[in-house]
Amino acid sequence: MKRWIVGLAGAVLLTSIAGAQAQVRTIVRAPVSQHTNPASALPGAKIFNEQCAGCHGAGGMGAEGPALSDEYWIHGRTDADIAKAIRGGFPPKMAAFDLAEPQVKDLVAYIRAAFVATLVVDRSVQQVPASVMHTEAADFRVETVAKLAAPYAFVFLPDGRALITEAAGVLRIVDKGKLLPQAIEGIPIDKPLNGATGRRILNIALHPDYARNGWVYLTIAEPAAAANATGASTRMRVVRGKIQGNRWSSHQVLFETLTGESSTARMAFSRDGYLFLTMGFSGNIYFGAPEDAPSLDLADANGKVLRMHDDGRAPTDNPFVNVPGALKQVWSYGHRQSLGLAFDANGVLWESENGARGGDEMNIIRKGANYGWPVVTWGHRYDSIPRVAVPEMEGVEQPVVSWAPSPAVSAVAFYAGDTFPRWKGNMFVGSLKNRALYRIVLKDNRQVLQEEVLRGIDRIRDVGVGPDGCIYLLTDGGLFLRLAPA
Ligand code: HEC
Repeated sequence: MKRWIVGLAGAVLLTSIAGAQAQVRTIVRAPVSQHTNPASALPGAKIFNEQCAGCHGAGGMGAEGPALSDEYWIHGRTDADIAKAIRGGFPPKMAAFDLAEPQVKDLVAYIRAAFVATLVVDRSVQQVPASVMHTEAADFRVETVAKLAAPYAFVFLPDGRALITEAAGVLRIVDKGKLLPQAIEGIPIDKPLNGATGRRILNIALHPDYARNGWVYLTIAEPAAAANATGASTRMRVVRGKIQGNRWSSHQVLFETLTGESSTARMAFSRDGYLFLTMGFSGNIYFGAPEDAPSLDLADANGKVLRMHDDGRAPTDNPFVNVPGALKQVWSYGHRQSLGLAFDANGVLWESENGARGGDEMNIIRKGANYGWPVVTWGHRYDSIPRVAVPEMEGVEQPVVSWAPSPAVSAVAFYAGDTFPRWKGNMFVGSLKNRALYRIVLKDNRQVLQEEVLRGIDRIRDVGVGPDGCIYLLTDGGLFLRLAPA
């Protein structure tokens, strides 16, 4: 099987894009609800702020040292692991701390209360603002349309109803602003995932010709019978089916692969009817040499954007169909965790990607291109290798937008309605960790403005535009929100 790796020997540092980034106008906003973490009253808070926040960032958001407030912990996140990290340090990057035992205990208690316990979904911050939000190009109100259980993605049907995926393996319908009590049932799912997210149905998309053929596409994650050689132990499937009454019917499995537990699989259809799919590769389960990573191996679906016909077959004009051993659906490679994928009005495909400790990206996806992960990145790796010092390399695509520290960017959507005329063509991107919604103004496919239009409600998982020209959001805490004109 042929491995496709970037030529490390020929690494050439290109001129920094920092200069170009500096011309971007940014607008930040205060969170709509100030979340005072009760942990800040604990005795460990003072020690953390004095001795640790310098490297781990205020609120443990990450700076020179890794974030302690996200789900990625390479050295373990039990109390014993944290205590060991403090006592032993990670020389030379983090010196061992010579603290008295009670102080170590206080610190561990604080880190646990402030970050670890609230990692996966912090439901404590869900205050939807009652007042009008004034932003640069629009004033809007935030309305709660519905509350769901562990939702992940949504799509609007041509008749205006919204279909929303829930982790429990059902699809739910919001009709005229109301969540229908009866879910769509009968989607074949073998076993639930038990991991941190426990998700089964992830993403949803409609066939471009849905009005005629009724095909609804889902990506479903289930535990695999056994892990593969790189530790991937989740079976990810692309399926399609039709909704008849309240039942899922005509079920077909179109594509299947093994992936990591936290992997995501976003879908987007091109105008000419091809299905594009992201297969994330976080690298948290992979400890081999970076240049041997599955994301750079064309035979492996992980860390790729895939392109297929609407029935899962590989098109004959895909870039690697003639490479022996390569997976024929591969369209681009070297990706990390992709939580967003969308076409703009010009048919350009955009992909958002979570970096590791910084290095979140917004990419334009080009046929056959290499995006470099985990060899080339603006972020750091989650292991004891010092900073990844190769943010750029010849032959490797650069992101259009790069974020550090990572807001954990999620879904992406382009505004195409008439309700907010000054948002036309703008890109909207959600964020998990920063609980923000970004509006990005692009000019010639370059970022000229980045505005936080919303901050602080909840982790934003999905973003889309409704038939009413309003922006809709889905949060990890279960809120289906509408940004309506003020
Ligand atoms: C000089 C910068 C610096 C300071 C100060 C510092 N750290 Fe760190 N810390 C780091 C770096 C860098 C790492 C990552 C080490 C690695 O992965 O090799 C780290 C790792 C950790 C980890 C493991 C994180 C994981 O992902 O598993 C914990 C826990 C931690 N630090 C806690 C603390 C605490 C508590 C303090 C204050 C008492 C502190 N650190 C002070 C730089 C620092």
